Amino acid sequence: METVVSGIRSTGNLHLGNYFGMIRQAVRMQAEYNCYFFVADLHSLTTHPKPLDFQQNVKQVLVEFLACGIDPDKCTLYVQSDIPEISELYLIMNMLAYKGELERVVTFKDKARKQPDNINAGLLTYPVLMAVDIIIQHADKVPVGKDQEQHLEMTRNYVKRFNSMYGVNYFHEPLAFNYEKNLIKIPGLDGSGKMGKSEGGKNAVYLMDKPEQIRNKIMRAVTDSGPEKPNSTKTDAIQNLFALLNIVSKPDTVQFFENQYNHCNIRYGDLKKQLAEDIIKFTTPFREKMEALSDDDLYIQNIRKQGAEKARITARKTLEDVREIIGIKAK
Ligand code: TRP
Repeated sequence: METVVSGIRSTGNLHLGNYFGMIRQAVRMQAEYNCYFFVADLHSLTTHPKPLDFQQNVKQVLVEFLACGIDPDKCTLYVQSDIPEISELYLIMNMLAYKGELERVVTFKDKARKQPDNINAGLLTYPVLMAVDIIIQHADKVPVGKDQEQHLEMTRNYVKRFNSMYGVNYFHEPLAFNYEKNLIKIPGLDGSGKMGKSEGGKNAVYLMDKPEQIRNKIMRAVTDSGPEKPNSTKTDAIQNLFALLNIVSKPDTVQFFENQYNHCNIRYGDLKKQLAEDIIKFTTPFREKMEALSDDDLYIQNIRKQGAEKARITARKTLEDVREIIGIKAK
């Protein structure tokens, strides 16, 4: 059976981008693969969260995973920092990662632009830690959104480099995965780019958002002054709204607004109202489950512990193998 690994950084509540990029695939994959899903809490350290927020964010992602249908009986669900082997393998793999290639990573360049005062070494080597998450479990497939494609490509490079440097055929090359033909990109509400948590909250719709918050955010999403000619191409902002509509609304609803757009009689306000209601319909069951689970600390703690035990079995073995391969430990 093939192995699957994926994780989400614990930097706040999960949004529709996380759901459609990773969680929805993950829930389906549980039935067909040997799955490892985790909370990438070490990755969140790049922005120096306060200790209490750090804890709270880890728990929140666990709660959201569970509420969305990640099932600890069907997969291994754990927290990255509970697997210390990851940190040691990260140290080792850092020796195979070159500054030049790390500096060319798009996510690094984006973050460096957005937080010029905090371009730390952990941010630069983010793709190395991510590669380790994946290879320590020998994953074949990694369900992620389009924005993570380059990180997977780097993971494959590290695998090849490790194998050739030590003359082994030990790690194998993982692929980014989506059940659809293409990886998914969920746009943000600000008219450009992807939905992300780091843009101050207004760019993303969170699974936890209350109906009123969702209506407010969607009504404020960026639009344009409307099409001037029949069948004109859509601006990015409008394309983004249609992309969201495509994901949460019925096909005839999408068609209805497409027709209006093409005949130049679209009212963006109506489209937004419909979009907001369809998102609310979609997220409400998740929000209700999250609210119920949030109080059950003991249950969450138990799941976390069991997951760590399971994930460490393979992680320990991988690290031992690697220590032997590179000569830290005598054969
Ligand atoms: N980089 C991913 C993101 O920002 C999170 C992540 C960390 C991840 N390690 C991973 C995803 C390993 C898949 C596999 O969404």
